Amino acid sequence: MSMRVTTVQRLWTDAEMAATLENDARRGLTATPKDLPPKWFYDQRGSELFDAITELPEYYPTRRERWILSERAGEIADLAGAESLVELGSGSATKTRILLDALTSGGRLHSYLPFDVCEEALASSGEEIAQRYPGVSVRGVVGDFERHLHLIPRLGRQLVAFLGGTIGNLMPEQRLAFLRKVRAGMTLEDHLLVGADLVKDPVRLVSAYDDPAGVTAEFNRNVLRVLNRQLDADFDPDGYEHVAVWDPDAEWIEMRLRARRPHRVRLHRLDLAVAFEGGEEMRTEVSAKFRPDGLAAELSAAGFRRVRYWTDPDGDFSLSLAVAC
Ligand code: SAH
Ligand code: AVI
Repeated sequence: MSMRVTTVQRLWTDAEMAATLENDARRGLTATPKDLPPKWFYDQRGSELFDAITELPEYYPTRRERWILSERAGEIADLAGAESLVELGSGSATKTRILLDALTSGGRLHSYLPFDVCEEALASSGEEIAQRYPGVSVRGVVGDFERHLHLIPRLGRQLVAFLGGTIGNLMPEQRLAFLRKVRAGMTLEDHLLVGADLVKDPVRLVSAYDDPAGVTAEFNRNVLRVLNRQLDADFDPDGYEHVAVWDPDAEWIEMRLRARRPHRVRLHRLDLAVAFEGGEEMRTEVSAKFRPDGLAAELSAAGFRRVRYWTDPDGDFSLSLAVAC
């Protein structure tokens, strides 16, 4: 029998989470064009589908970031000298083990605080990590990193990690607000580690977000299943086609769901009926791709100074290490 060695702290109640989803859905489904924020992909099934995406041959970001981490984890650990690792949007935290190996061999790390909106992902990854690193106290935190950063406990000198390119899922104005809040929770001795995907050939980008096996399409449709369950809605996920397009001006991939035919959806909990035209597209995610200077400028606008910047040999993905200034 395995013993529970990790704790999970919830920063929002079911009622607060439901109210946020209700607001997001009402606003997004009554807007023109319609949109839904990507944080609602991630119930247990959504997190599992994301993990399946990371194994796809077309989805390079996870493999590239893992390579950079393997090369640089020792240097990151030396520079950060962290006593606690806070990981925002930790998910299954698979790559995090590379960082934890380096930080624990430095001998100072005593706490790991994975933070995620998905409690199931947090509980299982936290448990595995607690078993693997018995000297590290694992304290999972469930919340929304756009709302609850100020509530994360500070447990000594911090390394705050935001991996996977999730920063690109925030709109530019949300990104600045988010980074400023991260900065507000840091002291001058703390470090921030950010993984960001880079601008590249649009053909490769689109194929990473539109795989022939259809895993990304299922991930995309999962948001409708979440709305069906949480808001007593009657979306037919198969009634929507998965769309991934490159926006060359914004330099992001946009995922959309395109209604196959005209129909109405009822969201009973919102007392709302929404009409979709045939072919109408609803945005479900942006995944921004960065240029090295643009990212440095965004960090600097939020009160950070980038001290290291690494990419994989093909220049596909990047890791930036920054300090507060
Ligand atoms: N860091 C992992 C997982 C990336 S997937 C990796 O690099 O592979 C994005 C993760 O961020 C998911 O686990 C999702 O649940 C979480 N997430 C997305 N939006 C969030 C939000 N607003 N607040 C907290 N977690 C969020
Ligand atoms: C979590 N995030 C960085 C992923 C991305 O690449 O933007 C989510 C994803 N969407 C489709 N595939 C993967």
